[in-house]
Amino acid sequence: MKILVTGGAGFIGSCFVRLALQNPSLEIVNVDALTYAGNLENLASVADHPRYRFIKEDLCGLEGLRRIFDEAKADAVIHFAAESHVDRSIFSPQPVFETNLRGTFNLLEAMRANRVDRFIHVSTDEVYGSLEAPLEADENFPLQPSSPYSAAKAGSDLLVLGYFKTYKLPAMVTRASNNYGPYQFPEKLIPLMITNALDDKPLPVYGDGMQVRDWLYVEDHCRALLRILEKGRDGEIYNIGGNRSLPNKEVIDRILAFTGKPSSLIKTVTDRPGHDRRYALSSEKLTKETGWSPLMDFETGLKATVDWYRSNPEWVQHVKSGEYQSYYAKNYENRSHELSGIA
Ligand code: NAD
Ligand code: TYD
Repeated sequence: MKILVTGGAGFIGSCFVRLALQNPSLEIVNVDALTYAGNLENLASVADHPRYRFIKEDLCGLEGLRRIFDEAKADAVIHFAAESHVDRSIFSPQPVFETNLRGTFNLLEAMRANRVDRFIHVSTDEVYGSLEAPLEADENFPLQPSSPYSAAKAGSDLLVLGYFKTYKLPAMVTRASNNYGPYQFPEKLIPLMITNALDDKPLPVYGDGMQVRDWLYVEDHCRALLRILEKGRDGEIYNIGGNRSLPNKEVIDRILAFTGKPSSLIKTVTDRPGHDRRYALSSEKLTKETGWSPLMDFETGLKATVDWYRSNPEWVQHVKSGEYQSYYAKNYENRSHELSGIA
């Protein structure tokens, strides 16, 4: 089976590519624009693989995508490409609209002309918004997104489902909880805290740090996508959760323990506007239909992640140079006194 992935040079997409290539019956075409979050170093181990091919292309251009689809003759598409960071979406919503909505629309249009057998739109539990404990979102839970990021993902989910109903595009939507693991760009909570701690830099905690997220090891997410590719039903939504809810402060305490750094590094900073208090979801449907469940326990996965960042200082240095520095300088300007020394 030939799978065209979008965003395969990012955190989750690159994990998927590495994992999928272990299956001799799968061939991968990776279409990625290589934004700040796309990094071919994530795929160095498979760059010369005979069943792998990379094409640099921006989903915001329909003509380029059409050419790729005409030529690639893919059997399946897995759509990872997105502007994926909530803070960036707050500081700068335009690219989020362009990629997450227009980019998804273009992809759907390209597939309307060049039909594929399977399409998975990779989405997020953030579309359900903040949930009071002990509520858990199942796939029928109302969409109540809070940020430009989650609103655009919710919009793209609906667009995909509309193409399923209207054009019979064989599409599925997956909604995963917060991923963690190696190769994650150090702007998200876990890799930011690990890399700052390793450098003895401040760990910026938003508000009271008691916001709750459900943590999913990235390989468990990618295994779920492979199961859904095989066994999922067209037109369906599948939640993918790690079954491990923790307040941010508890995650950070574990990172401090694994890095051997003092809690004096923790700095409380102004809260994120519209900050969702708690995400929680049920993956019962996925487990029932495909037999999938997460394999990695959080402490083991977090320890492995800390070890990976410790062992890959060149990767960290590379992604934290250039654009990363200017992003923090520009977007955190109004609270730079709180965050000085972060980048
Ligand atoms: P990421 O930011 O690490 O990578 C995104 C990739 O998309 C990059 O390689 C980037 O170059 C590419 N890209 C961005 N805009 C593009 C465009 N216009 N055209 C082509 N390529 C483009 O993201 P990630 O964390 O790997 O997330 C992947 C997907 O999973 C996203 O759709 C995200 O919404 C979803 N998701 C992420 C998480 C998480 O915790 N990271 C959780 C649930 C769902
Ligand atoms: P993040 O990794 O950005 O994922 P999301 O907002 O998509 O869930 O943030 C996870 C949690 O960590 C969220 O509650 C915000 C919080 N957070 C901080 O407290 N400090 C930080 O520097 C970052 C990036 C996040």
